[in-house]
Amino acid sequence: MPLPRATTLAHRILADQIPEGSCVVDATVGNGHDTEFLATLVGDSGRVHGFDVQLAALQSAKERLRAAGLDHRVRWHHGGHESLADQVDDPLRAVMFNLGYLPGGDHALITTAATTLRACSSASVLLVEGGVLSIVLYRGHPGGAEEAQAVETWILGLDAAHWSVARYSPLGRRREAPSLLLASKEPRLA
Ligand SMILES: C[S@@+](CC[C@H](N)C(=O)[O-])C[C@H]1O[C@@H](n2cnc3c(N)ncnc32)[C@H](O)[C@@H]1O
Repeated sequence: MPLPRATTLAHRILADQIPEGSCVVDATVGNGHDTEFLATLVGDSGRVHGFDVQLAALQSAKERLRAAGLDHRVRWHHGGHESLADQVDDPLRAVMFNLGYLPGGDHALITTAATTLRACSSASVLLVEGGVLSIVLYRGHPGGAEEAQAVETWILGLDAAHWSVARYSPLGRRREAPSLLLASKEPRLA
C-alpha cells in the first residue's frame, strides 16, 4: 500500500484531535475539501472559520458544504488569513493550512511566506492548550520552496517547552511532493 499523501495524513491526525463542539479554522478554503472535513468533525455545536482571498473559491466551497448539509457550521471570511486575529477571537482547537495555489484555479494567486507567517503566529496565540496547527507545504511552484523554508524555520522557533512539532516529508525523487508540518500546543503545568 502506498504511503499516505500529506493531505490524507493531516486528515487522519486531525480526526483524533477535534472533538464535537470545537471551534477551528480552515485558513485556505480553496475548493472546500478541508472545510467539509472540519465541518463534519465539529458537529452542529461547533464552528469552522474559513478564509480565502478568492471569492470564486469561497462560492464553490460554500456550494459543496450546502450540498452536504454543513453550510450552517461555517463562517466564511473573504480575505487573507493574515487577518485571522482581527476576525476571530474564539479559542481554537485546530488551524489548518493547505498552502500554494488552487488546483484548477489561478496559479498566480499563491500563499506567500510573509502572510502565512503572520497567520501562523496569530494561530499559535488563539490555539487552546492541546490545540493543533497543521500545515501542508508545496515546494514545486515558484516561491514554494522559500515559503516552505520560512514556515519550517518559524515552527522550529516555537518554545520547545510548550510545543511539540513534527514533519512528514517525502524523500528521494519525490522530494517535491507535499509535506506536512504539525505543531501541538502542550498544556502548561500549574
Ligand atoms: C492549495 S489551495 C487550498 C485547497 C483547499 N484546502 C481544499 O481543500 O480544496 C490554497 C488556497 O489558498 C488561497 N490563498 C492564497 N493566499 C491566501 C491568503 N493570504 N489567505 C487565505 N487564503 C489564501 C488560494 O486562493 C487557494 O484557494
